[in-house]
Amino acid sequence: DGTLRDHAAERGKFIGAALATGPLSNEAPYSTIARTEFNQVTPENALKWDATEPNDNQYSFSGADQIVNFAVANNQIVHGHTLVWHSQTPGWVQGLNATAMRAAMQDHITTVVGRYANNAAVRSWDVVNEAFEENGSMRQSFWLNTMGQTYIADAFRFARAADPDARLCINDFNVEGINAKSTAMFNLVQSLRAQNVPVDCVGFQGHLAVQFGFPNQVQQNLQRFADLGVQVRITELDVRIPLPADDTELATQNTYYTNMISACNNVTACAGVTIWGFTDKYSWVPDTFSGQGQALLWDTNYVAKPVYNAVHTAL
Ligand code: XIL
Repeated sequence: DGTLRDHAAERGKFIGAALATGPLSNEAPYSTIARTEFNQVTPENALKWDATEPNDNQYSFSGADQIVNFAVANNQIVHGHTLVWHSQTPGWVQGLNATAMRAAMQDHITTVVGRYANNAAVRSWDVVNEAFEENGSMRQSFWLNTMGQTYIADAFRFARAADPDARLCINDFNVEGINAKSTAMFNLVQSLRAQNVPVDCVGFQGHLAVQFGFPNQVQQNLQRFADLGVQVRITELDVRIPLPADDTELATQNTYYTNMISACNNVTACAGVTIWGFTDKYSWVPDTFSGQGQALLWDTNYVAKPVYNAVHTAL
């Protein structure tokens, strides 16, 4: 017995969930599960640029504050997601020239990170999200195309200046196993740290799908990053299934969740695992991957599924 958070805390790890502002204020079962089962939260959308600074220098923190206040009230830590990303960033940013874009980045990071710098619950940030293509080259985003690759070092330095105590992460998907993309991430983190760029942490999103197989050598991959001196964490875990799900696929899903949690448990520098939501009612999966779903631990009626027990046992 005990909740997920009890089990994680006994190991000195966190178990977290991405939270959405709407159901957090409107649905009692949502906030009850969020509060009782998790000791870490990540705002799913409320800290993204389009939410916090939709127009130049017009900041809005109502959604972010709602989630941060919830976390403080419930003794949870908060991971800030995300500062510099190619997606969910307003058009006014994307159209700037290099000098103006760098200034907008500095102002944004200084303001957003600075707002929570004295809040003890807000411990870490995804400073740069999804900087790589699948083949390991740098993603051809407006950031890269306008500012060049130094946008990454600039972002980390601005974040460090805004909160010297926050743990600063680079985060990506399809980097959980050893492959071309994760090796490119590894080489970048090694080179940034050699140049004293303040990268403290690497986030592995963990958006898995039963039909794609489990990534290769996850624990070894986490360990090679840990050996560079960074903290590692699973930041957005979910395991989607092509619908309708059959028993074999559900068993595979249990195994994937179990294996990811065990990999984190087995690596000392792995701080914990965040699941990208908790109820299938508000998962991003059906909206994004047509015909797929049932990726989370609770069903659409807030009933815990068998995969909840698999996670509970693994923690
Ligand atoms: C997703 C959210 O879950 C959706 O609600 C939103 O519409 C789009 O973004 N990688 C990330 C997350 O880093 O921010 C994304 O979240 C999922 C993929």
